[in-house]
Formats: sequence, C-alpha cells, structure tokens
Amino acid sequence: MKGYFISIEGGDGSGKSTQLKKIEEYLSQMGQEVVLTREPGGTPVAEKIRELILDPRNRALTARAEMLLYAACRAQHVEEKILPALAAGKTVLSDRFTDSSIAYQGFGRGLGAMVAEVNGIATGGLEPDLTIFLNITPAKGMARKKREDGHTLDRLELEKAAFHERVYEGYLALAKESGGRIAVIDADRVAEEVFADIQKKLDELFGFSPCI
Ligand code: TYD
Repeated sequence: MKGYFISIEGGDGSGKSTQLKKIEEYLSQMGQEVVLTREPGGTPVAEKIRELILDPRNRALTARAEMLLYAACRAQHVEEKILPALAAGKTVLSDRFTDSSIAYQGFGRGLGAMVAEVNGIATGGLEPDLTIFLNITPAKGMARKKREDGHTLDRLELEKAAFHERVYEGYLALAKESGGRIAVIDADRVAEEVFADIQKKLDELFGFSPCI
C-alpha cells in the first residue's frame, strides 16, 4: 500500500504556508498519516545544502551549480525521507518539489531542458500524484509579501521582477503540459475560498466522498 505524494508550488505571497497547514489538517482529519516536508531541505543533510543555496552572501553561485545543488538536495530528500514514508503508506506533503527547479532554474535562469534531465536522475523518476500550484502574478504576490512584517529577503527573492515573471510563465506552461497532475488554483482570494478548491482536488485523489 503506497501512500500519495502531494507537492505544493507558488511564488512569494501566494499563501503557500497557510494552505499547507490547511491541507495537513484536513488530511489528518480524514485519517491520513501526513509527513509534512519542504524543499530545499527536509533532512539534516538537505537542510545544510539549503543554507548554502539561499545564503545571500553566495552571489558567486553559478546557474548550473545552483541547479545541481537543488538536485543534490532533492536526491537526498527523496531517498532518505520521501520514498520510505510512501512505502509505509503515509501521505507525503512537500512544500515545493521538481517543478520548482524547472520553473526557477529552467525558465528563470534559462537552463531549459537539462533541468528535467538532471532531476530525473536526482529523483529516480519520482513525481507527485498531485501538485497544487497557487496562481498569483508576481506583482500581486510581491505586494502581499511586502505587507508582511519583518520579512528579510533571501538570495532568490532578491532577483529582479523579470526573473519572477519568467518563473511564473514557466509554471503555467508546465501545468498545461502536466496532463492534469498540476492543479492551477486561483490564489488571489481569501484563504477559505482557495482551500475549498484545493479540497476538491484532494477529495478526487483520495476518493473521499463529499457527504462524510
Ligand atoms: P523558501 O524560503 O523555502 O521560500 P518559499 O517560501 O518561496 O518556498 O526558499 C526557497 C527558494 O528556493 C524559493 O525562492 C524558490 C527557490 N527554489 C528554486 O529555485 N529551485 C528549487 O528547486 C526549489 C525547491 C526552490
């Protein structure tokens, strides 16, 4: 009995953390054992790689090196944490997965198709059963984020608007080609409305009947 693997994607100010909590709560309520994890990170070694990648002082990091570090981080995460949890029948809920690399490194940095190839090696071909993409334009997302207090920007967040626009377009293109795996959810609404749409996708995947 293999568990389901769900990832969630979305840019700054998309409300990703709020929706992650809601998804976790809902699935737990429905009797699933949920392993909540994140990328880059999720295991001690992967969290170390995360620090290196996101450190604003590492301005010299090249696009290819960055892509490979994200992939190395993911390889560790998949083998050490995700696969064992799925094999034990648990639901794995990951804050970001390979789609982030394709959007940020592939489209944002312009590395293109090699990103999917490298990630195929990193993950051994593992793909989420369902990916939730919280759809909000980078401009609206940034405006939301700026309203949050005391947030300091990491290396990726300091990128220019054009970079974030390419990332955003990348996600939309990926969703189109995903054969329904990536659900595009309008995130420019109150959290409850956004979650109602996500819940429908979860109900479909798990086969929960709406009248329970
Ligand atoms: P994080 O603090 O987790 O941000 P967020 O709340 O946006 O998820 O930082 C992760 C950053 O790394 C984020 O800007 C997206 C970026 N990223 C990539 O560029 N490629 C990847 O493969 C992943 C997983 C994240």
